[in-house]
Amino acid sequence: MKHKEIIDKMTLEEKAALLSGKGEWQTWNLDRLGIPSIYCSDGPHGIRKQAGTGDHLGLNPSLPATCFPTAATVANSWDPELGDKIGQALGQEANTQGVDIVLGPGLNIKRNPLCGRNFEYFSEDPYLAGKMAAGYIRGIQSQGVYACPKHFAVNSQELRRMAMNAVVDERTLREIYLTGFEIAVKEGHAKAIMTSYNQVNGTYANENAHLLTDILRDEWGFDGIVITDWGGSNDHVKGVQAGSDLEMPNPGLDSARQLIKAVKEGRIKESTIDNSVDRMLEAVFELSQEREKIDDKGFKKHNDLAYRAAAESAVLLKNSDNILPLKPDTRVALIGDFAYVPRYQGSGSSVVNATSVEHMNMLINNTTLHVVGCTRGYLRSGGIDAIMEKAAIDLAEQADVVIYCFGLDELSESEGVDRNHMRIPQNQIHLLEKLVKVNKNIVGVLSAGSAIEMSWHHCLKGIIHGYLYGQAGAQAMLDIITGKINPSGRLNETYPVRYEDTPSLRYFPSVERNSEYREGIFVGYRYYDTANIRVLYPFGYGLSYTNFKYSDLIVNNDGIRITVTNTGDVDGAETIQLYIGKKDAKIFRPDKELKGFKKVFLKAGESRNINIDFDDKTFRYWNIITSKWEVEAGEYQVMVGADCQDIRHTGQINIDGTTTEYPYSKDHMLSYFSGNIQKVSDKEFEELLDRTIPDGKWRGELDVNDAVCQMYYAKSALARFIYKILTNKLKKNEELGKTDLNLLFQYNIPFRAIAKMTGGIVSMEMIDGVMMVVNGHFFKGFGIVITGFFRNRRLNKKYIKKLNSNGGK
Ligand code: BGC
Repeated sequence: MKHKEIIDKMTLEEKAALLSGKGEWQTWNLDRLGIPSIYCSDGPHGIRKQAGTGDHLGLNPSLPATCFPTAATVANSWDPELGDKIGQALGQEANTQGVDIVLGPGLNIKRNPLCGRNFEYFSEDPYLAGKMAAGYIRGIQSQGVYACPKHFAVNSQELRRMAMNAVVDERTLREIYLTGFEIAVKEGHAKAIMTSYNQVNGTYANENAHLLTDILRDEWGFDGIVITDWGGSNDHVKGVQAGSDLEMPNPGLDSARQLIKAVKEGRIKESTIDNSVDRMLEAVFELSQEREKIDDKGFKKHNDLAYRAAAESAVLLKNSDNILPLKPDTRVALIGDFAYVPRYQGSGSSVVNATSVEHMNMLINNTTLHVVGCTRGYLRSGGIDAIMEKAAIDLAEQADVVIYCFGLDELSESEGVDRNHMRIPQNQIHLLEKLVKVNKNIVGVLSAGSAIEMSWHHCLKGIIHGYLYGQAGAQAMLDIITGKINPSGRLNETYPVRYEDTPSLRYFPSVERNSEYREGIFVGYRYYDTANIRVLYPFGYGLSYTNFKYSDLIVNNDGIRITVTNTGDVDGAETIQLYIGKKDAKIFRPDKELKGFKKVFLKAGESRNINIDFDDKTFRYWNIITSKWEVEAGEYQVMVGADCQDIRHTGQINIDGTTTEYPYSKDHMLSYFSGNIQKVSDKEFEELLDRTIPDGKWRGELDVNDAVCQMYYAKSALARFIYKILTNKLKKNEELGKTDLNLLFQYNIPFRAIAKMTGGIVSMEMIDGVMMVVNGHFFKGFGIVITGFFRNRRLNKKYIKKLNSNGGK
């Protein structure tokens, strides 16, 4: 233990207090011992420090900070160095605002395009996600601040996110859902990590000793602090026992009292608590060092970096007839509400109060283009406005080229809600179809943080996908349009032709408690490639204003070498991607998997030899029989290309294996061996899981872990009535096209989380009473709530008094 001396002086009360939050964002300070509190803030693409009332949904205002493009955007740069630079800027702004821990980056796997938080995550591929996250983490921590990668783990849906159970086999868990975190921990050296709300195979992530102790701490060597997501602690005692440290945000001192009780009853050893306290003290002391602040000039530099990030991350999806870049003096019409009010970030806890926001309609006049006019064209809120539409069509008629700004609206991308389809608003498509009738030269500037269907794709000659491009993205889009910037972004995720093609179609989101990850390792391109499903844009795809030739592939034991030449007449950047496959594999596996990449900038005509090294992840797979990473012996295909379908050269390599016992029987798992996993039978899934499928139906009485929205099962008429009121309110909002994050959160919250987020007003004892009421024992339950309330108040006061005097000695 590093801080034994101070721990020896601490009372059990002080130790327990240090392991839970004191307010929405900070930990307890223990002045007697000179232990200050530490301060956490969201979020991954900018600092969200709330100076006034705090909340974890981004509802109340926060201090101005640079709003960088979101993770989904920057992942398209395939440049961990850029992530590092953004991380440094985040760290500097955190220091300036007195923030010690930045709650990010988020690196959950984009299992399904509909997950409401995909815009906050890097990729459908764990290798790319992990490398990008490691870049951010190194950058943030280089400034003396802690990064807190999240949400560990298997948090790929928003629906009932606090009460659902991810049922996933160990190989898929390791290869797909944990590998990114492994890279973030081992290469990024994250000093904190946030557990997810959900259960993983029946145990809350925050209480999951397999995740937190066996894998995170013992296998990966993580020695930082484990923090719960906000309100994500189920049972703090079980959490600490499993390797979690800090319960956030503000359970009052109820959780601390539970820890003390558990020690006294011998359910947890005091030494286990001491280990957590030791880790917390290390963080507290490290983070209480004086750190450098930045001034206005620093913020200006960050705005430039936000611009660079947007410019290097935008993906040129289409460029028919080389419509782009537009020549000087091209007569353009700028159409679309997004040109006036950009969509540059998503909603929820990651919302940043940007220091400034650029608008295309204002900036376009400073370009070399001849602007014939700008108009909004469609209503942001949906619906068709004939007058706006006519103005847009008239304008389009006068121009050589129409620049059409459009995409997903604010309501479609938010924490707390999954989308229910993959389309952009119909009125935007409607207008586009009208515009193309009067002008065939349309360039679309798309804003959306996750994959969408593009049935309207043929209406556009050029498409620049800016994703959610941050506060300075508008200028970046214009510079790509005019050719000042040569686009170099590559998609971090596949764009399927239609939602029905997606691998987890039938399994996402969970119906009741369980979300069955039946598609296994076949997520994203791993599925489309293997099952031969045509996609609109493959993983890794992106065009440039120049061309790159790949030649002279050499494969050796350490990796590959290839020569890449910029054969066009403009400078540009290319991302060389390395994929590995094994045609004669005995275990089932995807056709190819990303195992390395490098982004290089090449002047027109320049050639360079590029090396990409193999690493410990290149040939490994998780063997469920031996519970180890293993390698299959034999020949592997080494594919080097510009995206996962544009493989330019393939080599071979023979590798010595480690496998002596091969898992899986082909006869029993045909879906997995063929990659056709959209309809995996119960039997096959059980083979994959190596156990029976757990029953996820809600039955019998509701308990503290059930969500408020499950009250339709409640025995109490009052509870069912409340459920009805909430449901009706939500439905009304839906009809009005509104999202009330607070209401949604209340709707999806499990009962126990109420005690964890009310600053000590509600205790778990009171929640037990509430459950009795819900389950039809009104008077008994109500009595417990009332006595619980007074007991909790008295015990909290007593505890605080002790902390303020001598720590409880
Ligand atoms: C989110 C986290 C966030 C936290 C604090 C939670 O609702 O899931 O990502 O860091 O709130 O705002």
